[in-house]
This record gives sequence, C-alpha cells and structure tokens, in this order.
Amino acid sequence: MADHFLTLDSLGPTGVREILDLSHRFKREPDRHRGALAGGRVGMIFDKPSTRTRVSLEDAAWALGMLPIVLRPDELQLGHGETVADTARVLSRYLSALTIRTFAHARVEELAAHATIPIINALTDEHHPCQALADVMTLEEVFGDLRGRRIAFVGDGNNVAHSLIQAAGSLGFTLVVATPEGYRPDAAIVAAAREHASASGGAVEVVGDPRVAVAGADAVYTDVWASMGKEHEREERRRVFAGYTVDAAMMAAAGPGAIFLHCLPAHRGDEVTDEVIDGPGSRVWDQAENRVYTEQALLYALITGDRLGARLG
Ligand code: CP
Ligand code: NVA
Repeated sequence: MADHFLTLDSLGPTGVREILDLSHRFKREPDRHRGALAGGRVGMIFDKPSTRTRVSLEDAAWALGMLPIVLRPDELQLGHGETVADTARVLSRYLSALTIRTFAHARVEELAAHATIPIINALTDEHHPCQALADVMTLEEVFGDLRGRRIAFVGDGNNVAHSLIQAAGSLGFTLVVATPEGYRPDAAIVAAAREHASASGGAVEVVGDPRVAVAGADAVYTDVWASMGKEHEREERRRVFAGYTVDAAMMAAAGPGAIFLHCLPAHRGDEVTDEVIDGPGSRVWDQAENRVYTEQALLYALITGDRLGARLG
C-alpha cells in the first residue's frame, strides 16, 4: 500500500522529523536531488484556487525531474458522473503521485482508499498539512529545536490551525490557539494532539483572549478569518473577530524578538496590519519559499520510500 499524506499525523512523529530533515537538506544542497525522480509524473487536482501550493508543487516536481499535470475540476470526468474511487484507480495507472486540494476531507480519504500511488492533501476544509511542514521548517530556521518554544495562533480554528496543532503534538512545542467562541478548533484533533504531546513534551492550549495566547510567545501566527468556501461569512466574521487583528500592539505583547508567520494569502487590515506583515519580525516570505523544499522532500520520500535521502548520497 502506498504511503499517503492526508494529515500531518499520517507520517507519525518520526516521519515528520525525517521529512523536515530532508527539507532542510534539500534547501542547503539544491543540486543533490535535482532530477532524482526523472520520468515521474505528478497529478495535481485543484478544486479551490491556489497561488503558493500550485506553483511550489509544480516547482518541486520540476526540480525532481517529474512532469507536473495540473487538473482543474472542469477538465476532469470527476464531477460529471465518474466516481472518486474510479478516478483514483485510473490515475494510479498513469501517475507516480497525486495531490488534491478540495473541500471535504472525506473526498481525499476516499481517493487514498482506492489509489495505489501516494495521495497528498494540498488543503481540505479540515487540514493543510503541506503548509504545516513549511511553517515548522521556517520556525526551525529561526529557533533550531522547537521543544520548549511557545507559538501563538490567533484567529479562526481552521484547517491551518488543525495542522499546526498536530505539529505541536508530534514535535513537542507549545501551541496556544486563541479564537472567539464558536470558532474553536475541532475538539477531537486537539485531544489527539494532546495525547501525542504527552510523549513529545509539547502542549496545545485553546483560549479566547489573544493577549493571553501571545504573552511570552516566540512566534505569532494568523490566517484569514474566512477561509475558501466561507467567503459569504466574511462580513459577519469581521464583526466576530474584532480584537483578533495581529497589529503592532499585539506583537509588542508577545515575547521579545517574536516573529510573525502567516500561511498567506493575507487579508491586510483584517487579521494582520501592514506594519506587522511588512515589519522586521515577519518571516512570511521565507515561509512561502519553504513550501518548495518541504514539497520536494515529501514527493521524494513518499514516491521512493527513501525518507532519509540515503540513495542520494
Ligand atoms: N498558503 C497556501 O496554501 O496558499 P495558496 O492558497 O496560494 O496555495
Ligand atoms: N485557511 C485558508 C488557508 C489558505 C491557504 C483557507 O482554507 O482558505
């Protein structure tokens, strides 16, 4: 059975560590793995828009020597009567791996259940594990070992928050999530991460007050208040999330030298001010760049099974 990457937990704590180590190495030594998967093909289904994920995945595939094939929903028979299972069976005969960005997480699970090639979640309503790999890589570039570090996530308890919660559980840092009531992260995801955290030394806290979350934080992370598919709630959410904007005062309430992270796209003036995202503590462009190395590592490791990069010398 192929290894899939549906959530950050799919890899297990050891697997996450291995992919991150490979990602750092791929960034340091960009030539060692160039063309390592020559002749491979990776399909990429996008049911939602994307700038970073699409371009970084194509970039990663190209660097490894693979043909990237981007598939928009209107170009596929999926959605015109063909089932997810049959799509998975057929695409498995053509491709080395398949990435999918879609709405319901169950759709990705169904694809994985019927595919014989690795399926990579490129964002669902519930998870964004590719993003979490780049987030952690960026944090490690600044802080080294994350054990004992405190990261604040301020905003909606969404897909990005869920994947970061899983990262805290497996890598042993403390994540404090601040959301308004009614926008909390999924309780089952939090509970599972807390269980993993008991082994890794990490912790996951969920609070209402953003000032409590950022106090003493090494990094402050935020994301859009209305994710893709929730755009119709934007005005209501602007009212509910008033007070959750990461501005200079919020950053000043964080630990000394705290950095700012955002998965992007940012809605400047809502969840973050220009002053913060363009300020000296912002690492958002490194974070976006790191999507390429983490996805190279992911594609390489899942397709070859060589998670340590041993075959690359
Ligand atoms: N962060 C991220 O996934 O961005 P895109 O929606 O542009 O892919
Ligand atoms: N939470 C956001 C992330 C975008 C990369 C969304 O799902 O729209």
